[in-house]
Amino acid sequence: MTDYKTMISQAEGMLEAEPWYVAAFSNLSALIKETLPELNWAGFYFADESGLTVGPFQGKPACIHIAPGKGVCGTAVVRKETVVVPDVHAFPGHIACDSASASEIVIPLCRDGKVAAVLDIDSPVKDRFSPADRDGLEALARQIEERVSWN
Ligand code: SME
Repeated sequence: MTDYKTMISQAEGMLEAEPWYVAAFSNLSALIKETLPELNWAGFYFADESGLTVGPFQGKPACIHIAPGKGVCGTAVVRKETVVVPDVHAFPGHIACDSASASEIVIPLCRDGKVAAVLDIDSPVKDRFSPADRDGLEALARQIEERVSWN
């Protein structure tokens, strides 16, 4: 069971030291990948009207662009809520960047009420993300939204 309290206080320290989104998201993706067991990819996509563009991440090189509403990431943007996929092969429209991925969680990050980015995490283990992981990662997302500087 991941100690989200400790991870969120480490994230708080990073965001306090440097809130600029590029630096913060780089270290946050490393923090997530190091802290949560059984991950093969953890990182961010930036959202605008043209879709999603890959940002800082840890893992294998990934799809650069995702069209609006496509994949698990685009679905999370449209729904403006977390999407947990226990089995990516059973999710219609899942975009396979790394064939090792078996389950996935995507959490939107909002700026001025609009989705500005998503936090995307993949695991090679089916059903990897529990309700406790969802709660912990959503708490991390709220912390990021509160402290990040988008400029
Ligand atoms: N699987 C995602 C694409 C991004 S990779 O997982 C890094 C999706 O379906 O949106």
